Amino acid sequence: MEGGTAASDKRLLVLGAGPAQLGLLEAAHERGLHVIAVDRDPLAPGFRFADRRAIVSVEDEPAIDRLANAERIDGIMAPGIDFPVAIAARVAARLGIAHPLDPPTAQAATSKLRQRERFADAGVPHARYRVCSSLAEASAAAADLGFPCVVKAPDLQGQKGLGFVRDADALAEAFDTARGLARSSVVLVEELVAGREVTVNAFSAGGRFHPLSVTDRVVAEPPAFGVALAHVWPSELEPDELAAAVQAAESAAAAVGVREGPTYTQVLVRPDGPRVGELAARLGGGHDAELCEAALGIDLNRLAISAALGERLYDGAFVPDEQAGGACVRFLVPEPGVLEAVEGIEEAERSSGVVWVRSYREPGHVFGPLRRGADRAGAVLAVGDSRKEALARATRAAERIRFVTADAEALV
Ligand SMILES: Nc1ncnc2c1ncn2[C@@H]1O[C@H](COP(=O)(O)OP(=O)(O)OP(=O)(O)O)[C@@H](O)[C@H]1O
Ligand SMILES: [Mg+2]
Repeated sequence: MEGGTAASDKRLLVLGAGPAQLGLLEAAHERGLHVIAVDRDPLAPGFRFADRRAIVSVEDEPAIDRLANAERIDGIMAPGIDFPVAIAARVAARLGIAHPLDPPTAQAATSKLRQRERFADAGVPHARYRVCSSLAEASAAAADLGFPCVVKAPDLQGQKGLGFVRDADALAEAFDTARGLARSSVVLVEELVAGREVTVNAFSAGGRFHPLSVTDRVVAEPPAFGVALAHVWPSELEPDELAAAVQAAESAAAAVGVREGPTYTQVLVRPDGPRVGELAARLGGGHDAELCEAALGIDLNRLAISAALGERLYDGAFVPDEQAGGACVRFLVPEPGVLEAVEGIEEAERSSGVVWVRSYREPGHVFGPLRRGADRAGAVLAVGDSRKEALARATRAAERIRFVTADAEALV
């Protein structure tokens, strides 16, 4: 898998050193690569696995270009975050180094709108939606699609600008929020696809799509609409529903043009069939690669690193070797306030079935109420004989962890 230059001679630039990149950075470090990590937050937890830290925004393309040149990198990747996926592809193309995605493919994969246009052309099932540039257009779209509906920015992630709209009275606020945050001037209004949701974690090599872990996404209720509280494997879907969801993810990857590297596809499952919510041409940002390894014994972080370095992958790398009957990532939700201390981590790590516990923030961090993924405080990865046991073990471990917070207002 790692032929050619000795692994430790290779230099990998990773965009992001936050919670979503922790596992990848750790895997790159363990592989002995020279790891250069970029994050504008000097306290980003992933920096501890980096040989070189650059305190730069992952969206600052000129600065990333300069860094990539100066560091003579062999590969660049943006695990767990969307917008920089396109930056990584462009930087790699300008440097003339190997990369799993060409710039136009990466660009399409990072736009909810552009990928949907491709889904429509290719017949990939997806939620009905309208592109709206005014509240009047959004009102007409919502009336047509029906309430409740969903409003979102076409070019953001992590539930930024994402709104669940119960009725017509709630539309203006959701529209303004999405429009205010969006990079572009349009907003998507979508039908709400009621039903279950799975994440299809897959890997493409030489144009061949290999589905790996398919997990149930357990989500929070509005106002934290869409925020993942857990990813649980194996999925509870019936085999035919599961096969249809995987097929939808494969057709989504083909429609966007992803032939190499990881894909992370959110699929909503209705009784009449699946609807692709979104495809990301990267690793998931919720420790999905580590969950895949705990479940199937496939080291998805390492595969993604190999793809970023242009290394050849063999089909054998995608053959699952089930490690457990069930596995799950359960996210930790703190009380709002200023973080003073995190207690109980070691106890939680010792609890049965726990693979690891991650705490994302340092004391002083201010937690708001749960609205987006970024409001989560950490995660537990646990395994068990069944999905139920894995979930119960993760929950038991989570109950041992306490984020001690002080009232933020009292400190002002
Ligand atoms: N049309 C919809 N119908 C039902 N649920 C939806 C719809 N759109 C979004 N959601 C819910 O919100 C979640 C996040 O949606 P989406 O991926 O569009 O936003 P995001 O900001 O990109 O979030 P993430 O970074 O988690 O992918 C989905 O996984 C799903 O649970
Ligand atoms: Mg998304």
